[in-house]
Amino acid sequence: MRKKVTIVGAGNVGATAAHWIASKELADVALIDVIEGVPQGKGLDLLEAMPIEKRDCQITGTNDYADTANSDIVVITAGIPRKPGMSRDDLLATNYKIMSDVVGKVVANSPNCIIIVVSNPLDAMAQAAFRQSKFNRERVIGMAGVLDSARYRTFIAQELNVSVENVTAFVLGGHGDTMVPLPRYSSVAGIPITELISKERIEAIVQRTRDGGAEIVKYLKTGSAYYAPSAAAVEMVEAILKDKKKILPCAAYLDGEYGISGYYIGVPCKLGARGIEQIVQIKLTTVEEAALKKSAEAVKELCAVISV
Ligand SMILES: NC(=O)c1ccc[n+]([C@@H]2O[C@H](COP(=O)([O-])OP(=O)(O)OC[C@H]3O[C@@H](n4cnc5c(N)ncnc54)[C@H](O)[C@@H]3O)[C@@H](O)[C@H]2O)c1
Repeated sequence: MRKKVTIVGAGNVGATAAHWIASKELADVALIDVIEGVPQGKGLDLLEAMPIEKRDCQITGTNDYADTANSDIVVITAGIPRKPGMSRDDLLATNYKIMSDVVGKVVANSPNCIIIVVSNPLDAMAQAAFRQSKFNRERVIGMAGVLDSARYRTFIAQELNVSVENVTAFVLGGHGDTMVPLPRYSSVAGIPITELISKERIEAIVQRTRDGGAEIVKYLKTGSAYYAPSAAAVEMVEAILKDKKKILPCAAYLDGEYGISGYYIGVPCKLGARGIEQIVQIKLTTVEEAALKKSAEAVKELCAVISV
């Protein structure tokens, strides 16, 4: 039996995630949206690419949660994206309403699934999904760090004119302005970037990474980034489906780790068949710890607004 992944929201991120999953032949995909015809049309179009791509995946576009039943993973991308001038936090009220509608139906139809939340503001939406699903924390994971670190890696590779494959990088904290990149844990072929790039240039790269989403929103004008975000979500899907035990920066519900309790925040997580199999704790400097706490405070404020 092939694995099954449901993607809620057949917009830019959702449909592109379906594309990456199918092109990697990871699972059958159910693509669901409230708009009639869009998931069906995009799903059928993608299905018709499979003979060319030589991939065997079923792709079902639907408006009916019955078609999503018994999914192994559900990726939630439903919600409005940013427009120029908007922060991710401006999406809170609208997307919380959508998240509440979606999670109940997801859980009723796929009680054993692992949920990956993509909708923004990410950490607060992950917290909302966690509370409403009543799943254990291993099975509700937020996607932000994989994207933020991919952006960071892209800029480091460009700076040094090296292969992106050589660059590993780490970011912690919330998705957005309070993200905490860790230059001393970022390396090129094992060499810390602090040995290769000046402090000023690292700071500029960090700032560009923080503003990475806004940079793209400014170009697109009518929506936000979706190729890298969907690829990031699918890296998490793949790690879980293949039980890879891969350590990736994910938003996880903390219960005392890093001195934080009761909130979702980006930390290194080991992803495998059970979802988050371990939260990896690394020693932080006082400055880094303070930055992470500040990030957690920002998440806490948003969660208070929606009482989750
Ligand atoms: N976590 C991240 O790093 C990250 C990165 C990029 C985008 N995002 C977020 O992902 C979300 C989706 O972005 P997008 O660019 O795909 O937007 P989009 O507008 O292209 O697609 C969103 C889709 O959700 C659908 N939808 C709305 N309410 C729904 C409901 N109740 N049930 C099912 N579907 C519903 C809409 O009809 C639309 O098709 C946004 O909130 C965006 O901010 C997060």
